[in-house]
Amino acid sequence: MTVKQYIVEQLEAHKGEYVSGEELAAGMGVSRAAIWKTVQSLQEEGYEIHSMPRRGYCLAVDSDILSREGILPFLDDKWKEIPIWVHDRLDSTNQEAKRLAAEGAPHGTVIIARSQTAGRGRLGRQFASPQAGGLYMSILLRPRMTASMAVDVTTLAAVSVCRAIENRTRKEPKIKWVNDIFLDGKKVCGILTEAVSDVETGMIDSLVLGIGVNVTTPPEAFPEEVRKVAGSLFGPGEQKISKNELTGEILNEVLGHVDTLGSHQHMEEYRRRCFILGKSVRFHKEEQVYTGIAKEILEDGALLVTLDKGGEIRLQSGEVSVRPD
Ligand code: BTN
Repeated sequence: MTVKQYIVEQLEAHKGEYVSGEELAAGMGVSRAAIWKTVQSLQEEGYEIHSMPRRGYCLAVDSDILSREGILPFLDDKWKEIPIWVHDRLDSTNQEAKRLAAEGAPHGTVIIARSQTAGRGRLGRQFASPQAGGLYMSILLRPRMTASMAVDVTTLAAVSVCRAIENRTRKEPKIKWVNDIFLDGKKVCGILTEAVSDVETGMIDSLVLGIGVNVTTPPEAFPEEVRKVAGSLFGPGEQKISKNELTGEILNEVLGHVDTLGSHQHMEEYRRRCFILGKSVRFHKEEQVYTGIAKEILEDGALLVTLDKGGEIRLQSGEVSVRPD
């Protein structure tokens, strides 16, 4: 561990409290001057660290910079050893996860970016990923399962994100089939699962689960075209949790339930959290527009719609819009 990592770890673990320079120096076997120099470089990076003679250093309570050291205190013990890579900026954490997967990175590897320049969304879209207030993360999973079970990961991730938010806040997010998370009528999280299969065996070699959460992103940081739909978990001035805490809890939920994939155990909860069931919806399929009532979500995550013109249609993937009542 570097001196910088050690200081961030200690200050994050004692956020809002003073930690003495002497203690920090002893912990790493370096001089107090070396600690001071490192603190200065952290301040230059944006960390709000206060220093007081004889008391030491204190990280501001509302400091909210994503880091591995900041996430660790919120991770369940069994995940504390997983590789977590935090970048200031990446093209896309999903792309980076795929690059690492090709190099043999292990199950559970986590890649986080504080901003993305080419965030990938579903259906070939871009995912706006500004630095201000967002959390962009990919988890590399190497489960033993077939390609047909991959859709389970997406629905499980949607349930996991909702649970994580509920565990740590008083908010009650809802799922819009298939994997958007909404709060107060606005999309606050998008999920993109990308699978890399072995052509010969049909087994999934690795699976990249990408999760993007607008934690405190202000409306003006979103591109004009998504401003109507996109929202954030916390508005200005609202009591919030840090991105590190939210990340830790999402990881606890996702990694803690990966073993249940294929059993569809989470589907009952998914249905309960999904707000489109019973609603009038509109969607495109093979260049045709359909309207109907969202009737049921099947065990494999497919959506069954009773069409206004008669009959039923089963949607395996895609997107529906909810029509006003
Ligand atoms: C969607 O709503 O269309 C899905 C968006 C998924 C965005 C996340 S952000 C982290 C990960 N990296 C990406 O490039 N995309 C996913």
